[in-house]
Amino acid sequence: MKIRVRGLSRTFVAQGRETPALLDVDLEVAAHEFVCLLGPSGCGKSTLLNIVAGFLRPTAGEVRVDERPVTGPGADRGVVFQEYVLFPWLTVVGNVEFGLRLKGAPAAERRGIVARYLELVGLAAHAEKYPVQLSGGMKQRVAIARALANSPEIILMDEPFGALDAQTREVLQDELGRIQRVEHKTVLFVTHSIREAVYLADRVIVMTSAPGRIKQVFTIKLPEVRDRFAPEFTHYESEITRVVKEEVAKVHE
Ligand SMILES: Nc1ncnc2c1ncn2[C@@H]1O[C@H](COP(=O)(O)OP(=O)(O)OP(=O)(O)O)[C@@H](O)[C@H]1O
Ligand SMILES: [Mg+2]
Repeated sequence: MKIRVRGLSRTFVAQGRETPALLDVDLEVAAHEFVCLLGPSGCGKSTLLNIVAGFLRPTAGEVRVDERPVTGPGADRGVVFQEYVLFPWLTVVGNVEFGLRLKGAPAAERRGIVARYLELVGLAAHAEKYPVQLSGGMKQRVAIARALANSPEIILMDEPFGALDAQTREVLQDELGRIQRVEHKTVLFVTHSIREAVYLADRVIVMTSAPGRIKQVFTIKLPEVRDRFAPEFTHYESEITRVVKEEVAKVHE
């Protein structure tokens, strides 16, 4: 197993009050698998991702990557978060090569890698621009290229397309699907969009309302390149919607 989450719990303490965010979560993600996490707002999706990323410590349980316990962030896990801002003082190239510079990669190697990933995300023509000159979709493409440039085996994405309009969002989903068919990363992807999850995932995991536990797992048996209008696609969409709605309803009880 690439990622193994065992008995994971996390409680936050704020102003003397304890908020259990995650409760006894078990989850396994195989190498090259694309797993989407769905669940009501506040059910602990970001908490789970942050623990896997090594940004946050669990209260109980553990996360293993390649059977080694996660004790902090690492180059084996690339992250793309919704608000994961680019460095405004660096160009697109500067942002994408940032991690490679930290690692001390020589300039020629950096150039090759950056060119490859800018091509892959369709930004080759914008290499010298600064983040302020880019649209939201372009910025998220840079964030994806930056994560990929460090060649992590795992990519953790927390609503990476959440701030984009519906059209741009579908374009980026198409691109991410295409990239995944080339790169074969192990991906843990948080989204609120059931359509997005069915479009991208090998497995969709629905979490309960807070404190988050695993409610139900759907294995998506659809072709690699998916048709959002196929009856089988719509079938998964409505099945998963039903299960997510049960949990969202509990939040409002
Ligand atoms: N740093 C923190 N301090 C205190 N409580 C926190 C902290 N981070 C998260 N929480 C609480 O933990 C719970 C889970 O939060 P989390 O951000 O993981 O939810 P989420 O599923 O990602 O929600 P959303 O879909 O809205 O992004 C919430 O009740 C939240 O208020
Ligand atoms: Mg979140």
